[in-house]
Amino acid sequence: MSPAFLESERLWYRSPQPSDAAFFTAGLQDPRVRRNLLIGRYPFNEDGERAFLEARAEAPVVDGKSDVMLTFGLKGDDKAIGNTGLHRISMLHRNAEWGIVIMRPEEWGKGFGREVAGAMLRYGFETLNLHRIYLRVNADNERGVRSYQAAGFKDEGVMRQHIFVDGNYVDLRMMGVLRDEWRQR
Ligand SMILES: CC(C)(COP(=O)(O)OP(=O)(O)OC[C@H]1O[C@@H](n2cnc3c(N)ncnc32)[C@H](O)[C@@H]1OP(=O)(O)O)[C@@H](O)C(=O)NCCC(=O)NCCS
Repeated sequence: MSPAFLESERLWYRSPQPSDAAFFTAGLQDPRVRRNLLIGRYPFNEDGERAFLEARAEAPVVDGKSDVMLTFGLKGDDKAIGNTGLHRISMLHRNAEWGIVIMRPEEWGKGFGREVAGAMLRYGFETLNLHRIYLRVNADNERGVRSYQAAGFKDEGVMRQHIFVDGNYVDLRMMGVLRDEWRQR
């Protein structure tokens, strides 16, 4: 395996590639995985996913890029377990939205979410020179909320009944971290 773009205690991180399409398609369509994802509403197939990844691979990487995606997995194993990204990066306001999905449910609850948050906060603040990183999470995604709190995200507000999941409207919780807070941790 080529050198990782980022590393944290137990995980490697690299750019997603077209050969990840089969894993992403299967992982993201698992109802347990997609329940709390904004992209999880509609079916898609491996060809479409590969085309998406090929288009990304061809996109020029320049300063001012508004979106960074990374695939991560366990050190010592080439198999990916999830994706993370900083999205809507604003070079003007120096903020970005963080997202994560661990596509193997057997890996949930082992602290990987918190570890990925730590790596992406460090990357966002110390490499991309961001000032603030925020996220949106369904209020009933208790595992996610606890993981994000443990990583240092603070509550910033709630959009009431913003999301429709499994027949019910649920609140969308906004959370964020400022660089100064993160440095003081
Ligand atoms: C949300 C997600 C990223 C969290 O990562 P994770 O590695 O599973 O979470 P962590 O192990 O870092 O932390 C989980 C926390 O929830 C707690 N937890 C574990 N199982 C739980 C459960 N069934 N219900 C509520 N909390 C639970 C853990 O005790 C831990 O809290 P603690 O640190 O206070 O002990 C991951 O579960 C995931 O990808 N889920 C599917 C997709 C998704 O929801 N993505 C996020 C959209 S915003």
